Amino acid sequence: MDCRSRLRSRSAVTLPTGRNEAAAAAAQATSAAQAVTIESFLAELAAFQTAASESLGGVSDGSGLEQARIEFLGARSGRLKAIQKLLSGLASADRPAGGRHFNEAKGAVTALFAALQDKLAVVGAGSAAVADAIDVTLPGELVRLGHVHPITQTIRRVQEIMARLGFESVDGPEVEDQWHNFEALAIPAEHPARDPLDNFYLAVARGTDPLLLRSQTSTVQIRVMENRRPPLRIVSLGRVYRPDTADATHYPMFHQVEGLLIEPGTTMAHLKSVLRQLASSFLGGDVHVRFRPSFFPFTEPSVEFDMEWGGRWIEMGGAGMVDPAVLAAVGYDPDEVSGFAFGLGVERIAARRYGVADIRDFYRNDVRFLRQF
Ligand code: DAH
Repeated sequence: MDCRSRLRSRSAVTLPTGRNEAAAAAAQATSAAQAVTIESFLAELAAFQTAASESLGGVSDGSGLEQARIEFLGARSGRLKAIQKLLSGLASADRPAGGRHFNEAKGAVTALFAALQDKLAVVGAGSAAVADAIDVTLPGELVRLGHVHPITQTIRRVQEIMARLGFESVDGPEVEDQWHNFEALAIPAEHPARDPLDNFYLAVARGTDPLLLRSQTSTVQIRVMENRRPPLRIVSLGRVYRPDTADATHYPMFHQVEGLLIEPGTTMAHLKSVLRQLASSFLGGDVHVRFRPSFFPFTEPSVEFDMEWGGRWIEMGGAGMVDPAVLAAVGYDPDEVSGFAFGLGVERIAARRYGVADIRDFYRNDVRFLRQF
């Protein structure tokens, strides 16, 4: 494909064969000038002008205009260029007239291009303005709203239920000292729960009292009791950390609900009815709670409690009457005050409520999973 036919193939204009041939012949008249009569030269010019104005008549956008410009006025192999080369083939007496006609034709066609270019620019700007305008009749674009993570939803729901029972939500630090995580909760130095393999101790030098990521929210009981006097009803929900291998029911970071009530005349019956209220409100319906004897260093007696849900008893957490040693550690008089405490896993109750089989799904950050809640 030679240069000219390539240009033509991009142009919408098809030229009558005769003119094509003449133009091709003109293009070939490069170095060796051939004899050209003034009549045929003027005919070429006229044909050029007619073809250019016909071609421009069919142009409707900038790229069409550019194609036509290359075909007719292109500096390298435009048709006008080919005609210019014919000038040198004219008899010298005809050349001034030939040159004048050439310049006129060139000026006329160039002006046509310029006018069309201006016109297209105005139309283009107009259509851009239209495109920018807001079409109020179009349906709106649906914005996908994010929402609260199921664990946070669970935390808020529990806080709300407990608030109705008079329990105030409080927070505590996630980086704890030995006193609040163990000592004050009657977990002495030699207790296996303090084993470095069961806790995330921090490598920050702090003498003989290293810090750790709290392993339970029971720490908050101590922090609150140290700063306030009874009566107390608090609930604390937050993260705890244990070096467990992640599986369907374990994760090295999880959340706990901690409840504490210190009031005169508190009994295990109060504890059980609060837990039953929490279970019924959270899971819906009349949920039964049962106690099984257990042991925790900071409660006496201690129980583990289960909830009956979907025809099955499900282990929920630990609870008991606050051990007198704990009350004494925070400066309360165990002969005067008593209370109960309980703790349970947020992931566990969220998994029950939402029917999630693997708690790791809560942390995979897969929006397809999270969107369901
Ligand atoms: N802190 C205990 C744990 O992490 C749970 C617990 C048991 C909390 C008994 C309590 C309680 O407040 O009374 O396993």
